[in-house]
Amino acid sequence: MSAFKEPVVIHRGLDNVYVEESKICYIDGEASRLFYRGYSIEDLAEHSTFEETAYLLIYGWLPTTSQLEDFKRQIEAHRPLEPEILQLIRSFPYHSDPMDALRTAVSALGLYDPQPMPNDMEARVDKGLSILAKIPTLITAFERLRNRKEPVSPKSGLSHAADFLYMLTGKEADSYDVHVMEVALILHAEHEMNASTFACTVTASTLADMYSIITSGIGTLRGPLHGGANEAALKTVMEVGNVANAESYVVEALAQKKRIMGFGHRVYKTWDPRYLILKKLGEELAVKKGQTKLFDTAVAIEMSTLKHLEGTTIFPNVDSYSGVVFHMLGIQTDLFTPIFAMSRVAGWTAHAIEYLYANRLIRPKALYIGKTGLPYLPMQLRTGRAEE
Ligand code: ACO
Repeated sequence: MSAFKEPVVIHRGLDNVYVEESKICYIDGEASRLFYRGYSIEDLAEHSTFEETAYLLIYGWLPTTSQLEDFKRQIEAHRPLEPEILQLIRSFPYHSDPMDALRTAVSALGLYDPQPMPNDMEARVDKGLSILAKIPTLITAFERLRNRKEPVSPKSGLSHAADFLYMLTGKEADSYDVHVMEVALILHAEHEMNASTFACTVTASTLADMYSIITSGIGTLRGPLHGGANEAALKTVMEVGNVANAESYVVEALAQKKRIMGFGHRVYKTWDPRYLILKKLGEELAVKKGQTKLFDTAVAIEMSTLKHLEGTTIFPNVDSYSGVVFHMLGIQTDLFTPIFAMSRVAGWTAHAIEYLYANRLIRPKALYIGKTGLPYLPMQLRTGRAEE
């Protein structure tokens, strides 16, 4: 018998539950619109940089020239890793998943901060910025070490996107590749109260430190229903292999009630506007890199999925082409989710700061449907199963 006397509504998955008021991001999931601090994602993707977008999300306004320069200087100053952190990354097993490596390394950054705990606004901004700056260095250090190469130190004067690609390969990347990475980072920087941002907000609500907050976000982003979908989507495109196989793959997958990765969204019930931007970039990149077969296969999967799911609200999301785009940039598949984290840390930080203005511990309830009042059994009377 339930211990509850009144009817209780369970919001499984917290669908349509509002947990705070926010000025950071607005999604109109019916009209395919996305705004960061009031600016459309299309304008930001076309005109902004990742640094400027991160500034906008964290501070709330588009920076002036001097504000942006100062912000970039701070990021640059925070990019290098403490020798102890590098030593720690060297000790990671090479077969580790880069998301596990990143989660562990970000958590460890807190150990080397002499004052990780202050929780005022200023500390949340400073520490969030420092973590944001270091994530590309952490990802690339692990990537190089597991490939038996020495990490490459950050290079002064490069943008966040350019420096990431530089530290990955040891060579400055082609300007078009930098542009594509820049846009991808802008598109992934923020997305309202998604699962990882909610995880960060829950941790922030306990007045924990920024290292714990961001580590919570990374752990949550890792799953295939969230950040991990981009890897899964690319794997699907690779497995399908060519345009001719797409239709049978989709028919079979849907018949087996499998989810087509990169499709569907809790909030968008039409096109994800980020998908449209990435698809266009992907098309240009495919021609430039001579990888049209991969891109065309992704398009064929998209077309078949849309045909067979016509009449539903399942449309392509950002992950349907992000994996294909990252792959064409020469990036290892298991780095896609870490790259997502490298970008989303801007949004996580913005939410951790905003939540502090009216902090309230997040503590929902679970409806207990188990038994109460069971007699405590001595060992010889136990059945080794749950009581019926
Ligand atoms: N392929 C096939 N069917 C799907 C898909 C899909 N990608 N997504 C949802 N459906 C179906 C479900 O099977 C379900 O059908 P049913 O009612 O017959 O059981 C129905 O649509 C509703 O599905 P829900 O899981 O309730 O919808 P929800 O709003 O929770 O879905 C989610 C959101 C988890 C993203 C889902 O669409 C999914 O699993 N997609 C694939 C993974 C993915 O691409 N994730 C990335 C999301 S974007 C991001 O995190 C950056």
